[in-house]
Amino acid sequence: MQELYEKIERAESVEALEAVRVEIFGKKGILAAEFAKMKSVPPEEKKAFAQGLNELKTKLQHTFDEKMATLKRKALEEKMQSEALDVALYDTIAHKGALHPVMETMDRIIDYFVSLNFAIEEGPLVEDDFHNFEALNLPKYHPARDMQDTFYFGDGRLLRTHTSPVQIHTMLRQKPPIRMIAPGAVFRRDYDLTHTPMFHQVEALVVDEEGKVSFAHLKSVLTDFLHYMFGDVAVRFRPSFFPFTEPSAEVDISCIFCEGEGCRVCSHTGWLEVLGCGLVDPNVFHAVGYENVSGYAFGLGVERFAMLLHRIPDLRSLFEGDIRLLEQFA
Ligand code: DAH
Repeated sequence: MQELYEKIERAESVEALEAVRVEIFGKKGILAAEFAKMKSVPPEEKKAFAQGLNELKTKLQHTFDEKMATLKRKALEEKMQSEALDVALYDTIAHKGALHPVMETMDRIIDYFVSLNFAIEEGPLVEDDFHNFEALNLPKYHPARDMQDTFYFGDGRLLRTHTSPVQIHTMLRQKPPIRMIAPGAVFRRDYDLTHTPMFHQVEALVVDEEGKVSFAHLKSVLTDFLHYMFGDVAVRFRPSFFPFTEPSAEVDISCIFCEGEGCRVCSHTGWLEVLGCGLVDPNVFHAVGYENVSGYAFGLGVERFAMLLHRIPDLRSLFEGDIRLLEQFA
């Protein structure tokens, strides 16, 4: 009966072993045939014969069970191997990404001024009082400092509240003429529907020999730029005040939501304020040692542009990192 054990051991798969089970233990199997021989065994030998067969059956069953367990374990391992998921493997389905609306808007603004030959300048996010305020004609205790809720480090350093200090860095570093924009993050202690502690601005500065840069230049560049950004809108310059420019203006476009009719977004004025600008104040040139020059400057908030262009009602949603916001721009 040794060959019965070998039959079991030789099976190489669960299926093959199942066939062996039928062959040995089945109703018409080898063991059944052996048991059938009982009939022809002499009575005095029947007991021993039955005992022998039952023992054999038990041992075979044991061998079979162990073999089956081994084969099943092997089959499971093979299945796991073949179905293994390599999580480090790149997905073959390409998911479409999207630029964040603020960066997309920033890129559009930058593209426009780069096409007009403006250089891109950068400055540090952590500033000192001189660059952020003093040199921009904002002396200590000047009430206009209250316009900007500043984060101070307590050691004289601060987080820049606007991109205007890049004007100062650039002018201290190079001689006129200057034709630059400075895109970047700025920080203020503010948090509501239209304010976040961090947001982005694009600053611009043009400086040339005295008399070569006028308010008319500023007006034409900004009017063209706003048409490029917002399409066929009316543009108006409203007298205003900034310490670093004189004269200064705030620039409005006709409301893109109601086309000037008056609605909630434009506070029923028909106009949307979009940027600040002016001719560079002589005190600013004085602070950087420039003489016999004139220039214009302007600064705008990128988030405000993005909100208007994409009709985003709550500024804070731009910074919550909710992927569902980005998916709308894919
Ligand atoms: N720095 C101003 C602000 O953050 C914006 C600004 C206004 C910049 C007028 C300028 C300018 O360069 O001429 O509110």
